[in-house]
Amino acid sequence: MNTKFSHTKSLKNNLIIISDGSNLDWADNYLSPGEITVLSKGLQKEVKSFVFPKAINFAFVLIAKESHDEYRTQEDARLAAADLLDKLEHYKIRSATVINHSNLNIVAAVAEGLVLGNYQFLKYFNDKKAKANSLKEVKIHASGMKKGDFERLSHVLESTCKARDMVNEPHSYMNAPNFSEEVKALGKECGFKVKVFDKKKIEKMGMGGLLSVNQGSMLPPTFNIMEWMPKNAKNSNPIVLVGKGVMYDTGGLSLKPTKNSMDYMKCDMAGSAAVVGIMMAVAKAKLPLKVVALVGATDNRPGQDAYVPGDVVTTYSGITVEVLNTDAEGRMTLADSLHYAKQYEPELVMDFATLTGAAAYCIGPEGIPFMGNADSKVKYKLEQSGHNTHERLVEMPMWKEYGETIKSDIADIKNLGGAYAGHITAGKFLEHFTDYPWLHFDIAGPAYLHKKSGYRTKEGTGVGVRLIFDFLRRYLD
Ligand code: BES
Ligand code: ZN
Ligand code: ZN
Repeated sequence: MNTKFSHTKSLKNNLIIISDGSNLDWADNYLSPGEITVLSKGLQKEVKSFVFPKAINFAFVLIAKESHDEYRTQEDARLAAADLLDKLEHYKIRSATVINHSNLNIVAAVAEGLVLGNYQFLKYFNDKKAKANSLKEVKIHASGMKKGDFERLSHVLESTCKARDMVNEPHSYMNAPNFSEEVKALGKECGFKVKVFDKKKIEKMGMGGLLSVNQGSMLPPTFNIMEWMPKNAKNSNPIVLVGKGVMYDTGGLSLKPTKNSMDYMKCDMAGSAAVVGIMMAVAKAKLPLKVVALVGATDNRPGQDAYVPGDVVTTYSGITVEVLNTDAEGRMTLADSLHYAKQYEPELVMDFATLTGAAAYCIGPEGIPFMGNADSKVKYKLEQSGHNTHERLVEMPMWKEYGETIKSDIADIKNLGGAYAGHITAGKFLEHFTDYPWLHFDIAGPAYLHKKSGYRTKEGTGVGVRLIFDFLRRYLD
């Protein structure tokens, strides 16, 4: 996270004053009578943001009008904050304090918009300093905000930025072995336990799905286990998160057919970045919940020994799979992680994967198609979290008929469905490897953006981290 985030009682700074515009009782504390006149005239004309250069600092006023849809109000506040970043850059502002004259959810939303919108990935520039945004620090001055709320917000923002970093790292760095090193380091930093299986162990275990995808790679696969098992946990059996960890997807021998699509396939580990980010936030916030994350990591390449269309692979579960397209590799690796999850007798398993182009075509970057058999209470809470974080969810049907398309003539199932609903047939494939309450999230649409959108910067978005952290908090209620 490249923005220092703290709370303060002091008002000696550039100020970002948030108001719902309903009254200006607060204004004499910060503005001159003339400025208040400008503000109230502007409000009548529906002006939404104001800049007042003061003697030493600036006062920015953001109007966040509350509407009947509180989630829309929050998202508009995030977007307004991201817009404000251009002004802060224009005036080369280094530090700003957000002051609340509205509700606390809006303050949090403005903080999210500022910190996430100010995110940059500069690692590979020589002139980092020149490229860096002017804003280095955001402070919160909100009397009603409890210390715990502030800290949780800070952790989730940091973890979202970490997930973005992991996606933005090119494959030349973020390969399977380096991914495991990153996870180990994070485990140490945040306090969750990390176990990594190497290729030998993966072979011994018989994780045929992960190994088949890895056949074309120059680098060995890794199987990564992260565990947060606090003594004060409210659940007896853990929630297991599974992430697709295809560090780079060429499609393998079924080389990617879509023009330019390989240019951004470093994003194919966004599911694993999301689960790592969630573990980081959970451990930093010390949530009283047992949470485990699993990632089978490899790249998918057409190497000399690469798996070929027509191959039959025996997965870790024993289920055999006819490979008809080596580009449908995510499900091969996830099959083994989902089977591994069974030993935890989990209360709930959620997997996150940039699994299909079909999911991205279905609702684009504006949401996440999800599916599975978890109970309706869980789904309801998730959907609420989706609105609250603006990482919105759309449930897809898992009707039996979709499963017919992955029947094989030579093996138990095949890794390719029919012409339609590719994201659902992929989900039906995964279902074979589950025997617990389970949900699958296909994040191929929102995981990676080709251009900036509000506070979602170009490339990795860190999608899933805010969503699931919010959900886990509701899950505790
Ligand atoms: N990694 C891709 C899916 C993807 C698409 C991720 C766009 C991010 C953005 C996945 O491995 C894939 O290639 N899926 C194929 C499956 C097909 C061959 C059944 C697809 O969706 O085309
Ligand atoms: Zn693929
Ligand atoms: Zn893939």
